[in-house]
Amino acid sequence: MIQIRRPRRSRQSAAIRDMVQETRLSVTDFILPLFVMEGQNVRSEVKSMPGIHRFSIDLLLQEVEECVGMGVKTFALFPNLPEAKKDKYATESHNPEGLYLKTVRAIKERFPDVVVMTDIAMDPYSSDGHDGIVENGKILNDPTLEVLGKMAVAQAQAGADIVGPSDMMDGRIGYIRQVLDENEFHDVAIMAYTAKYASAFYGPFRDALDSAPKFGDKKTYQMNPANSREALIEAQLDFAEGADFLMVKPALPYLDIIKLLSDNYKLPIAAYNVSGEYAMIKAASQLGWLDGQKAMAESLLSIKRAGASVILTYFAKEMATLLNER
Ligand code: PBG
Repeated sequence: MIQIRRPRRSRQSAAIRDMVQETRLSVTDFILPLFVMEGQNVRSEVKSMPGIHRFSIDLLLQEVEECVGMGVKTFALFPNLPEAKKDKYATESHNPEGLYLKTVRAIKERFPDVVVMTDIAMDPYSSDGHDGIVENGKILNDPTLEVLGKMAVAQAQAGADIVGPSDMMDGRIGYIRQVLDENEFHDVAIMAYTAKYASAFYGPFRDALDSAPKFGDKKTYQMNPANSREALIEAQLDFAEGADFLMVKPALPYLDIIKLLSDNYKLPIAAYNVSGEYAMIKAASQLGWLDGQKAMAESLLSIKRAGASVILTYFAKEMATLLNER
């Protein structure tokens, strides 16, 4: 039987498959999110995220050291605060002696070469559990920007290399760029959470930080999962306002959005493989319903193939181990 085109010819051996492989993961693609908590010599596992812990600063530094040894050099830091430290205005978020900024300084002091990406959003510090100032049940946009600006400057002073506004207020990228520049932090980059959807997949993260909204949901600021063209508007704004990276979040249910932004923008595209995406694979794997390691590798590869060159993932360490073995 004559067939001129036989795609299977390029799949016939491991060496040939390797040669024609279009997308490859590397440990340098990953940003590992880390959770910090108060105390000394404590770590507590997040119930809905097996294998992921909140660490006190001392143990967090050990974790960073271990990751650096494996080639993972970029970290996105999030704080778990006791309820008593939270208020309406997220005051603790820009307290230089607070847990978060102390942690940033500690990491940069001990490991000056790692990249620390800080989180700009009020929710971990907000008694309302929202990403903005709440008044009469509404999230106020412009007054929230002032808090975000204070956070940005405080984080830059603490040594942040990249700030990551994850709040979805309008105009925050431009506002943050302006206050950073006014304070001479021209070199601090902004990774904009550009297309951040109102997603059910954030559940385990909110367990990790005890940061679930106290009322309502986040649909007046996070995007509707039904919309893709709106992501182009968000991207256009973030680009114009000075973002250095455009992020899509979550990742797997939004591969089309990753592709859309990577086709239309020349900035590096990041994707956040969020807590729920991690939890799904871990749960199924613990039940013996799928091979967790293979599902992890395939998911991360798909995210990169869709167009993300930077991947925030709780799998960073596990995937690094696998890549280093290969
Ligand atoms: C909010 C924020 C969220 C995540 C990080 N920062 C989502 C939310 O709670 O609305 C989610 C990350 C994850 O699920 O892994 N500022």
